[in-house]
Amino acid sequence: MSIFDEIGSVAENFHNKLDKIIDQEQIVDLKNKYLGRKGIVSNLFSQIGKVAAENRKKVGKSLNSLKNELTKKINEKDQQFSVSEEKSKKTDYSLPGYSFNKGSQHPITQSIDEMLDIFNHLGFDIAYGPEVETDWYNFGSLNFPKNHPARDMQDTFYTEGSGILRTHTSPVQTRFMTKNKPPVRIVAPGRVYRNEAISPRSYCVFNQIEGLYVDKDVTFSDLRGTLDMFCKMYFGSDVKLKFRTSYFPFTEPSAEVDVSCFLCDGKGCRVCKNTGWLEILGCGMIDPNVFKSVGYDPEKYNGFAFGLGVERMAMLKLGINDIRILYENDIEFLKQF
Ligand code: DAH
Repeated sequence: MSIFDEIGSVAENFHNKLDKIIDQEQIVDLKNKYLGRKGIVSNLFSQIGKVAAENRKKVGKSLNSLKNELTKKINEKDQQFSVSEEKSKKTDYSLPGYSFNKGSQHPITQSIDEMLDIFNHLGFDIAYGPEVETDWYNFGSLNFPKNHPARDMQDTFYTEGSGILRTHTSPVQTRFMTKNKPPVRIVAPGRVYRNEAISPRSYCVFNQIEGLYVDKDVTFSDLRGTLDMFCKMYFGSDVKLKFRTSYFPFTEPSAEVDVSCFLCDGKGCRVCKNTGWLEILGCGMIDPNVFKSVGYDPEKYNGFAFGLGVERMAMLKLGINDIRILYENDIEFLKQF
């Protein structure tokens, strides 16, 4: 093999190897192998002495151009790798990923859960009833006289056919008692509907929690003690309760309960309309007619009931002054809870 053939095959081998290179370390190896002090190219140079004198110049020239070409190719490859390494540096895999907003429970759902927890603690089970009621359960079973104004179209939404959207959770009382024997100790949360003018304080749909306690020898003091404990656990131990006499067809005697306005500490402010008190619920001792309508013996049993306005209480505790915002699904508002 002539020295020219040898130069040719060195160049070819070099190019094959160069094509297979995958990182900078291999470039350094290749460079040492071909262009190092004891590398293939300098080995060829050292053979010049053996070449016939007339050919030396030509061989020298080819070797120089081989050396130059290999150097150039090595440098180009080196350049390529440093560029791509630069690029990969621009992706910082240690940066935090994209985050997704987590949902949370609606403040009303949270409030209901909190209230039910307290009642659970006080020994009440949970019961549910339908939102579309019959006239009997919503009114008749609860001792509403036939001509009572609450049955008026003005307050009640009627469905097509004979259903009505319940105007309160009290029908769960008579539904439960119809199916269960005393003693009874339940609370019933749920939505109720009223065809009322919409304002910061009232909406066409809202939530109530109904309470029902039936046994022998239940007294009004038991009612007071239960509500007092509940309000202290919900609002804080400083809260005071005021029982005002009232009227409901299904209780006798009946009362409405105000809590001391904790925003102004009872001194009077806009929220309590300068009275120092806020109304939160209706209650009373169960009317004997209600027991009769569910087949309980009013001579043997008595009990108390109450119905509290969830939104009213939650708004007080959370400092919300317009009930409508609870039904607008405004994410910026809801995010706070
Ligand atoms: N159902 C009444 C209302 O919606 C509230 C109420 C009052 C419920 C007295 C009761 C009760 O259980 O005993 O206004």
